[in-house]
Amino acid sequence: MVDVEYVSTGVKGLDELLGGGIPKGNVVAIIGAFGTGKSTLAMQFIWEGLKNDEKCIFISLEEDEKSLIESAAMFGWDFKKYMESRKLVLVRLEPSDAKTSVSRVRSDLPVYIKNFGASRVVLDSVSLLSMMFSSDIERRMALFTLCNIIKSTSATAIFTAEASEDKPTMSRDGITEYVVDGVIVLQQLRMLERGESQLCLQVMKMRKTPHSRRIKPYSITSQGIVVHIDAEIF
Ligand SMILES: Nc1ncnc2c1ncn2[C@@H]1O[C@H](COP(=O)(O)OP(=O)(O)O)[C@@H](O)[C@H]1O
Ligand SMILES: [Mg+2]
Repeated sequence: MVDVEYVSTGVKGLDELLGGGIPKGNVVAIIGAFGTGKSTLAMQFIWEGLKNDEKCIFISLEEDEKSLIESAAMFGWDFKKYMESRKLVLVRLEPSDAKTSVSRVRSDLPVYIKNFGASRVVLDSVSLLSMMFSSDIERRMALFTLCNIIKSTSATAIFTAEASEDKPTMSRDGITEYVVDGVIVLQQLRMLERGESQLCLQVMKMRKTPHSRRIKPYSITSQGIVVHIDAEIF
């Protein structure tokens, strides 16, 4: 039995469901519809690293630097301070400029992740990155290569992914869940008779740890995401 080193997600309740945290070096997809808190969870994971004096990289295709700093600040996470001390690097990829972004993902980013020595990497979102490639083969190759590069650095990573419209536990590109080591699904479940809905989280896959598969309710609070592991859904 090999001893697994766990990386805390910074999310109360989630580390327990994972059996201690994310196994170090895993690349994990957070799959969910818009508004389920994927970006929040990714920022929280980065904040946890920064608090522990770890180097972090946040690659964003969704928000520019200013907007990302503001979003984090809403939860009390001071990203700016850590950018100034070179512990945090924000990499903005422009979805409208696919050509430049794709070449950066292929050539600059691998070198960058290696040289900077980040222990945590976020890609928000892998769905927007996927859309930049013109064929499934290219997409699959790019995601696979990106995962392998991150794995060769032993950084632990979170990729956020939009859920497929008809299958809420699958990613929209249908590739991400197969190339990553772990999948955490965020869903808004509806109880039609009562007209209520609830946010629920489930760890669907996580290599190297005996995780729970229970579906647990969670909240997005002013301090970030909290998973209610002692509560049941509805
Ligand atoms: N301070 C806050 N307190 C409570 N809920 C919040 C707060 N800030 C954002 N939210 C909730 O989080 C949602 C956005 O989460 P986000 O991480 O951007 O989702 P996603 O990336 O999955 O689209 C908002 O729609 C809102 O419901
Ligand atoms: Mg988002």
